[in-house]
Amino acid sequence: MSTPNTTATLEEIVALCKRRGFVYQSAEIYGGLNGVYDFGHLGTLLKNNIRAAWLKSINEFGDVLQFEGSILGSEAVWQASGHLTNFSDPLVDCMSCKHRYRADDIDLDKSCPHCGNKQWTDVRQFNLMFKSQLGAATSSTNDVYLRPETAQSIFINVKNILSTNRVKIPFGIAQIGKAFRNEITPKQFLFRMREFEQMEIEWFCKDEDSLATFERWCSARLDFYRHIGLTMHNIRLHAHTKEELAHYSRMCNDVQYQFPFGWKELEGIAHRGTFDLSQHSQHSGKDLGVFDEELKSSYLPTVIECSVGVDRLFLTLLFDAYTEDIVEGEKRIVLKLSPTMAPIKAAFFPLTKKQHEPMSALYHDIKKKLGLAMQYDDSGSIGKRYRRQDEIGTPLCFTYDYDSANDNAVTVRHRDTTTQERIAVERVAEYIVDTLNSPFQKIY
Ligand code: GAP
Repeated sequence: MSTPNTTATLEEIVALCKRRGFVYQSAEIYGGLNGVYDFGHLGTLLKNNIRAAWLKSINEFGDVLQFEGSILGSEAVWQASGHLTNFSDPLVDCMSCKHRYRADDIDLDKSCPHCGNKQWTDVRQFNLMFKSQLGAATSSTNDVYLRPETAQSIFINVKNILSTNRVKIPFGIAQIGKAFRNEITPKQFLFRMREFEQMEIEWFCKDEDSLATFERWCSARLDFYRHIGLTMHNIRLHAHTKEELAHYSRMCNDVQYQFPFGWKELEGIAHRGTFDLSQHSQHSGKDLGVFDEELKSSYLPTVIECSVGVDRLFLTLLFDAYTEDIVEGEKRIVLKLSPTMAPIKAAFFPLTKKQHEPMSALYHDIKKKLGLAMQYDDSGSIGKRYRRQDEIGTPLCFTYDYDSANDNAVTVRHRDTTTQERIAVERVAEYIVDTLNSPFQKIY
């Protein structure tokens, strides 16, 4: 019934997101805000599933505390972390058309891709942090910055967190939250945004265990991507060269995904050593060492960090799941997301309006029982209703037909194979739960 999948273009993904209400351009009615997006109902559900899967996976690794830090950070924080000095990209302008580029994105020996002239300004460093002021005073002591990563709020709170929780090294502190970067050229939709969300875990361990722990994290993170259903031949680890390492990293592996625009970073796994804690100890004058009961002494733990963008993973899941095939002679678009990632878990259709009452009662009953996102749809032909659900990745559709009142059964139709079977109404809830719990294998 199906022909091989196609690789979606960025335009197809953007169009699907808009058409089905996953993602909207922010402030669209005012012309849009470049690099900033809003998420609709399905987008929010998908994001929630991403966050939940990530939290589950990092909790499986070991003892993890959760944290939610502030978005505004004082200048002192970013001075100590090195972001004020180092967190910049090279910027260049075309002197002729004034178009602005990231200097490492273009070839300065060639002409401006926008106007065709070849007159460049000098390359200068542009700090990516958004700056603001706290309160009405204009003194520079009130300067604050929107955080460019969530990690620093964890490091500066390590003493508070440790004195109020009973954890021993090794342990992790995890945070999901917004980060902001004034990217020179936001691009590729959710890939490089100015406002985005990060999921970061800072894992604190002894230095002598850190290399083995780094390796363990690398394999745990690959397991995570396998588990959420990504096609593993599109995933690889890339070890940073010395030149690629961030100012805080001793070593770093990127988890890369093969997008239509090339192999790109999806997640960074960094060995941060004691860089952050020693910087904040020095700059604040507070000892951020952790007391070890066994050794009866205090030391700065080594940090392994795993950091991935919710939005970048969202885009990756859509690229990976987007499939076109032919069903009954017609092209269909189907998102082959794993059932745990699918925004809507099941859809309920009465065959005609006549079956509205019993099917709507069943829908409300199952929705209440399972507490999962589901949809009821009674408009258009059954074929059209299937297509709508296929396009948003709903794994199961249940139809109540003319026979249902007699045999107390409904038809369940599977998204990827389009096969159908008849099951008893009492088994519907269990069927959905089993589908969510069974390992996912993408079927072409
Ligand atoms: N704390 C380490 C850190 O922030 P990073 O490699 O700069 O490291 C981590 O960012 C992850 O955050 C990236 O792998 C990516 O998934 C996401 N990310 C970074 N910048 C982004 C942007 N402008 N738009 C969307 N996601 C971004």
